[in-house]
Amino acid sequence: MLILEINVDTGKILEKNYELLVLGIFEEEKYHGVNGIIDKALDKEISQKLKTLEFNPKLRKTCLITTYGKIGIKRILLVGLGKRKDFSLESIRMASSSAINSIQELGITSCTFSILGDKATKISFDQIVENTVVGCELALYQFNLYKTEDQNIKKINKLLFFVYTPETSVIKNSISIAQIIDNGVNLARNLSNMPSSDATPTQIAEKAKIIADESGMTFSVLNKKEMEKFSMGGIINVSKGSNQPPKLVILEHKGGGTARPIVLVGKGITFDSGGISLKPSEKMEDMKHDKAGAATVIGTMQTVAQLKLPLNIIGIVPLTENLPGGSAYKPGDVLKMCNGKTVEVINTDAEGRLILADALAFASRYKPQAVIDLATLTGACVIALGSFATGLLGNDDNLKKRITSGGEITGERVWELPLWDDYKELLKSDIADMKNVGGRPGGVITAASFLSNFVDYPWAHLDIAGTAWTQSNVGVKPYNPKGATGVGVRLITEVLRSWET
Ligand code: BES
Ligand code: MG
Ligand code: ZN
Repeated sequence: MLILEINVDTGKILEKNYELLVLGIFEEEKYHGVNGIIDKALDKEISQKLKTLEFNPKLRKTCLITTYGKIGIKRILLVGLGKRKDFSLESIRMASSSAINSIQELGITSCTFSILGDKATKISFDQIVENTVVGCELALYQFNLYKTEDQNIKKINKLLFFVYTPETSVIKNSISIAQIIDNGVNLARNLSNMPSSDATPTQIAEKAKIIADESGMTFSVLNKKEMEKFSMGGIINVSKGSNQPPKLVILEHKGGGTARPIVLVGKGITFDSGGISLKPSEKMEDMKHDKAGAATVIGTMQTVAQLKLPLNIIGIVPLTENLPGGSAYKPGDVLKMCNGKTVEVINTDAEGRLILADALAFASRYKPQAVIDLATLTGACVIALGSFATGLLGNDDNLKKRITSGGEITGERVWELPLWDDYKELLKSDIADMKNVGGRPGGVITAASFLSNFVDYPWAHLDIAGTAWTQSNVGVKPYNPKGATGVGVRLITEVLRSWET
């Protein structure tokens, strides 16, 4: 799944005859390097535009200049980089994706980015390259599997990076790392965007098998029979209202010798109707995205396998529908979970925590050094944090720190909520070890608190309910088109890339 063909070019910029060249411009632009050469050759048109405020190079702003034969390059697209002091990896992704979005509207199929290193900022040349590629490729993602019309829109398929350094092999390495990451994100987006009728637990398991074979991972799957053997009362009961059989997929990347593994767990409710505690119909279609956690784990596994990270990483993905069929589990039922604990079901719509509980308890048999789960777990998280942060809870400060700093680097930011014992009180049941809901107040926390009953290792939980998909393009990052974001793939990949044991 190559999104863009990306090549590197070097030499004298005024000898080039590119269709379009993108130049990044700071608010305090100094016209170094290519920027200065082009400005001069265009009789100061760029610096004049800044002086007269015709172009204000705030982050994400763009301005197109036609060169009318003054130089070989036909058009220049200026893209604002904002203030030098605020320059970050996120600025690079924001600027490159804004540029590519406006170029896409011009209907051309290739363009060149001028990549200027900047000594004043602490960002290295390979980080600039990597994040430019990420911004472009994530912005160009479209989910058009079901579109039979409008297929003749010209799409950008080629990028060229113009650089001064002759060390193009370093740059090519950054490009290929970025492309592996983008493919993982876009795989996760595809799985999440896919309608539930074409992404059943069985179909996702089949897809995961293909991915495992292609990327050199071990694949295994638990069917209902095996789940029964492990006493996985959570996933089995949630699946009872549907005709689709549940699956629990296990992907293993073995790059770390004898080291204990890091386990990723992703909620894979392929459709969440709420079950007998049926959801209202408004926006229920969005509940095809209730498999976003699973999608992210599969996308991340593909990424870490292709990056050949020197770690043992296991992805566990419990998959089932949550439907109100005639055999559905019901409020009042008591379930026996994978670790032997019992749960009284109060609300069948709190199903995610039930399938995760089994998967988390199951993860214990791998003696993991850490476990991270990702789940579109609670509407309460959307209320608490909106769409700009993923909820973070867990029992291990070191692991939470790694995730928080990964969030800063990738722009997939997380915000911690407390996991105090007090909240466990709210889950007390009269007849079982616990209830599956703790009331509306603190809903993100009671959900995580429920999960904490099933872990006996360093663990972090990411509630991606507010970040897994976007409702519109308004207020959204230019590299996240409407629909599934694939959130977590870049975050977890970053955490694992910088993992030190
Ligand atoms: N999948 C939903 C959570 C959700 C809702 C994610 C909206 C994204 C957007 C989850 O299974 C659910 O239904 N949770 C309930 C829990 C409640 C019954 C305690 C919720 O949040 O309402
Ligand atoms: Mg639900
Ligand atoms: Zn759900």
